[in-house]
Amino acid sequence: MPRPRVFVSRVIPDAGLIPLREHCDVEVWPHNRAPSRDELIAACRDKDALVCLLTEKIDAAVLAAIPSVKIVANVAVGFDNLDVPAATAAGVVMSNTPGVLDETTADLAFALLMCAGRRLGEAERLMRSGTWTGWGIMQLMGQDINHATLGIVGFGRIGRALARRAAGFAMSVQYTDAVPAPADVAAGLNARFVDMDELLKTSDFVSLHVPLLPSTHHLIDAKAFAKMKKTAVLINTSRGPVVEEAALAAALRDGTIAAAGLDVYEHEPNISPELAALENVVLLPHIGSASVATRGKMAEIAARNVIAYFAGEAPPTALNPEVFERRAKG
Ligand code: DGY
Repeated sequence: MPRPRVFVSRVIPDAGLIPLREHCDVEVWPHNRAPSRDELIAACRDKDALVCLLTEKIDAAVLAAIPSVKIVANVAVGFDNLDVPAATAAGVVMSNTPGVLDETTADLAFALLMCAGRRLGEAERLMRSGTWTGWGIMQLMGQDINHATLGIVGFGRIGRALARRAAGFAMSVQYTDAVPAPADVAAGLNARFVDMDELLKTSDFVSLHVPLLPSTHHLIDAKAFAKMKKTAVLINTSRGPVVEEAALAAALRDGTIAAAGLDVYEHEPNISPELAALENVVLLPHIGSASVATRGKMAEIAARNVIAYFAGEAPPTALNPEVFERRAKG
């Protein structure tokens, strides 16, 4: 049997590349940038599988242009870059990497919360500027994290992992979601279910952990900012378009809220110049899952999905497992 031919759209950790190379003929995009749509299509024309990142948009038109590809393995848990219904219709399996990056992403959300709340970005810039004149009682006063109220929007795996971290800081945790968590889970995390309005009005920190869907696009807009406390801090490690970036820049500039910590942006990799000019926002380059161990696990899961598919086994984290089952039934 010929070995499956796989295109990998960027250099990924060895934990994924080594097993892939054991089982498949692998071509890796050699550049330190995402392939364009045309470059991706050209590279996939003679391939059986695609391992891609969240920077690659795989929609119905791309799928139609690469009919030899039978599985698309996304090296990310979020999959708003994939058109899963189109893949299902085309008989293509798609997979993501759930479960391995929750703790790492929650670590980063908490780090952002502390940085933005205590103004660490500004403080660091001051030290590097060489203009610090010494200790000042009025200098760089921020928001307390300890005993503050944390509002978590989206109480899935990452939201819950953030709640566990908040307990160490004696924070009071409230959350909102489409469906309340089971009572024992919420009680175990000391988390109270509230509606979105109450969460926005009463939280000192608001942290976003929802997937990007039509219903969450611009979930946090000018109206939402107007409900928040003037001292509130917004944290976003989910997806950029969940927040209306222009409204956020205005809210930070006008003092509608105190600060923000962002890992994701509405138009990545671009950020609005208004945001970049503000002192009261901490800006990170989408590194929520970027620990050596976690990125390795993500790459390995993507590889395992591809390898399983061609071994005739169910890809472990398929988003549309019915496509594989249909194929297995013949
Ligand atoms: C994801 O996996 O969706 C993150 O945004 C990147 O790790």
